[in-house]
Amino acid sequence: MQLFPAHALKGEVWLPADKSVSQRAALFAALGEGVSTLHGYATAADPQSMLSCIRQLGIKIENTPDGAILVHGKGLSGFEKPDNPLDCGNSGTAMRFLAGVLAGQPFDSILIGDASLSRRPMARVANPLREMGASIELTDGHAPIFIKGNPALRGIRYEMPVASAQVKSCVLLAGLFAEGQTEVVEKVPTRDHTERMLGIQNNHGRLKVEGGRPILAQAYHIPRDFSAAAFFMVAASIVPSSELRLPQVGLNPSRTGLLDVLRQMGADIVLENERQTSGEPVADMRIRTAKLRGVSLDGAVIANIIDEIPILAVAATQAEGITEIRGAEELRVKETDRIAAMVTNLRKLGAKVEEWPDGMRITGGYKLKGTTVEAFLDHRIAMSMGIAAFVADGPTEILEAHHAAVSFPDFWDQLAHIRK
Ligand code: S3P
Repeated sequence: MQLFPAHALKGEVWLPADKSVSQRAALFAALGEGVSTLHGYATAADPQSMLSCIRQLGIKIENTPDGAILVHGKGLSGFEKPDNPLDCGNSGTAMRFLAGVLAGQPFDSILIGDASLSRRPMARVANPLREMGASIELTDGHAPIFIKGNPALRGIRYEMPVASAQVKSCVLLAGLFAEGQTEVVEKVPTRDHTERMLGIQNNHGRLKVEGGRPILAQAYHIPRDFSAAAFFMVAASIVPSSELRLPQVGLNPSRTGLLDVLRQMGADIVLENERQTSGEPVADMRIRTAKLRGVSLDGAVIANIIDEIPILAVAATQAEGITEIRGAEELRVKETDRIAAMVTNLRKLGAKVEEWPDGMRITGGYKLKGTTVEAFLDHRIAMSMGIAAFVADGPTEILEAHHAAVSFPDFWDQLAHIRK
């Protein structure tokens, strides 16, 4: 994919449906009692991987003429033994959530993923599940994951050793199949879509679920993905003379740290028409070009903005002064090592970047120059490079740009449509 600098960005971008909310809605609909409707379900690869796994677990899924999806939930004990290993593709959310559910089933199952997912750490879910009584084998700490059926899971109290919504959700899901109560204690808050959908109260970071608690069928309305909005929030801020409108963006406070950080950097972002859909706050967003300054980030905000750090690093190259990001070592175990990937790509583009084990330091104000950069098997790296190309001199070649489709199938078309 070859991209050229942009003189301005104008117009409206219809973002893809939220990937995190989509996958949870599909799984809870499958575990629900009766038919649930998913409105605006994501067409991106990751949420489609979740749907395909659920189908293979014996759940009927239908498309309606108006674009909704009907999931014929069969309750907590409705899943059937799949004929083949369940392929989670690139999706860590699908693999870790399904591990939690499958750990409590009466049949054996196997979870597999693509090359990137097969390198990601799975002991973080296998450990608590084993504590609950599950029988799980990993492959050198990774997928394939082999899960033995017929366990007698028991509720545990689990203090989260890493800030991860996927691990938290995995334990809570397994808790639905366990005897007694399961409690997860979270020191650093992470995205809370699972708790919202299950109606679990957060009591100072303590979350409790009772085994056997039924899930009701319902209609889920999926907001558009804040993490997809992030690319356009940064793009419109750093490309001169820009103004973009992003309708119906999900604004769950456990996800919107980037909005606060960009505003702190001087961004001009206005929210309009704030409302709620299916228990999640939503608004339309308007972004205009602004002069940004560097920022220092560490501590609890990191978990909130974890998926947005690659594109924030691009913003930092255009900001005045220094940006420091610390405490973000989790970035090293995402779809790729996102610290190494961003440092490599930004340096190739001419940015001044120092790499730290847990983050990076970027000195803004160095003009980027178009060159060849890589996606590193990672959708967010590919898309971050697309935005960097807009502010670089000359053409930028992005290798394997198609990885964007993991979360944002028409990302490159949308860029072409707003570029003036
Ligand atoms: C997600 C949680 C985060 C995030 C991922 C989606 C989720 O991962 O990076 O893109 O849907 O729960 P971790 O829980 O591993 O931090």
